[in-house]
Amino acid sequence: MRLQSLRARSRDFSLTDDELRSQVDTSIIENYHFHLELLGANCDKYPAKQHARRVASQLGITNGLIYLEGKPTTYLDDSDQTVPFRQRRYFYYLSGADEPDCYLTYDIAQDRLTLYVPDFDLRRAIWMGPTITVDDAQERYDVDQARYYSSLSQDIHRWAIDNQKYAVYILHPSEQPTGEGASLHFDAEQLQPAMDACRGVKDQHEIDLIRRANKVSGLAHTQVLRNISKMVNETQIEGIFLDTCVSLGAKNQAYGIIAASGENAATLHYMKNNEPLANRQFVCLDAGAEWSCYASDVTRTFPLQGRWPSDEARDVYNIVEKMQEECIRRIRKGVRFLDLHILAHVVAIKGLLELGILKGDSVEEIRKSGASRVFFPHGLGHHVGLEVHDVSGESIMAASGDQDDDSILVPPTSHSPCTFSAPHLEPGMIVTVEPGIYFSRFALEDAKQQPYAKHIDFTVAARYIPVGGVRIEDDILVTDDGYENLTTAPKGEKMLEIIRGK
Ligand code: GLY
Ligand code: MN
Repeated sequence: MRLQSLRARSRDFSLTDDELRSQVDTSIIENYHFHLELLGANCDKYPAKQHARRVASQLGITNGLIYLEGKPTTYLDDSDQTVPFRQRRYFYYLSGADEPDCYLTYDIAQDRLTLYVPDFDLRRAIWMGPTITVDDAQERYDVDQARYYSSLSQDIHRWAIDNQKYAVYILHPSEQPTGEGASLHFDAEQLQPAMDACRGVKDQHEIDLIRRANKVSGLAHTQVLRNISKMVNETQIEGIFLDTCVSLGAKNQAYGIIAASGENAATLHYMKNNEPLANRQFVCLDAGAEWSCYASDVTRTFPLQGRWPSDEARDVYNIVEKMQEECIRRIRKGVRFLDLHILAHVVAIKGLLELGILKGDSVEEIRKSGASRVFFPHGLGHHVGLEVHDVSGESIMAASGDQDDDSILVPPTSHSPCTFSAPHLEPGMIVTVEPGIYFSRFALEDAKQQPYAKHIDFTVAARYIPVGGVRIEDDILVTDDGYENLTTAPKGEKMLEIIRGK
């Protein structure tokens, strides 16, 4: 099929298949096919109704009304220009609607999910295009009915008359609907934790969206690798990554692109992305596309040419690679993620001892001192989903309550509540595994004042400052019998080969 279409595009009909293939940039054709495949993914409806039922069951109630507000159209400060639209994730989870100015209700007893869309507005239709009609909304989304916003207040009033003893479940006290005079009882405590617990475990549809986001990111990372040897500034890395994602239909990034060369990679969330690449050893590119509101989160660290720029760079890369491989291969249901975080520190300490950056007789003693956190200051990973740092019932990086481990514990990155019992991995969870080793001048300067300074050889560590930092990050699905790595961006030797043009 692919060869046929290549032949149709070529004028020279005497070419052999191989000659024909070599005439075209096959990456463009591959991307084109991926694009079609990705667009095809929109045929299935997002399972909003199933999510609504899951949330009601998590709430443990059989009566009540869930009420959620979508993101309204808003304007930039002191401007007539709109803020780029980003749907609220709790709203999307129960509607699948990525449109502004919508609302929803879920009547738990009646098992009825209703989406409210904006009423027709002539001025808006002329300037911005018409908003969705109720017929189209009902067709597009997995809801029982779609209605115009003008019916909302009256519908809630009717519901309240029949359900006086039951609560309206809302996310925040400030988001109470008006029921046109009806007396409504609100519960703003239970809905968010229930939704967080549901969102922490993904269904097949959500897994497919995250897989697709990863596919786009994998192609965009590959495009950067193909071109990095010709680039002269970090801006070009950001540019080609964005270009590839947008061209493939992924208009939004899941988070700000981090294209950090040299020492900039020691800044964990470096986002200026505007410095020259000359004489830089590594680029740390942390960038992930979003697909239908679902995130991917992918980091690769690579040299500008397809060979190690220094022994120091190679050695640090190899330690981080080992940290990641050792942690990923242990992922399965029932594993406590926090234990993998501790394992990553142990691997890092052993590697840094070999390089002479750390010193001491006992790995355990060094770990408990906190010295390794100077080089690996963030958590091993987090959930990925509708947010890049996705919510869950409990944080997988939650403190264990075991004081011995406190020196290497870090606060969770998401807004999930931090409890003292780190939960175990369950099938359907998608977590990042993103170990890193960094040589931050700030962290090293501070470390000199700390009790664990005796475990660090600062003279040796200073030789590694030009390496900046290495982070490698993949998105891992926990399955019934192990794990699946959803990230397709090349790493290790394959990554170097692409840079070399092989
Ligand atoms: N990839 C960005 C982060 O996890 O913070
Ligand atoms: Mn991450």
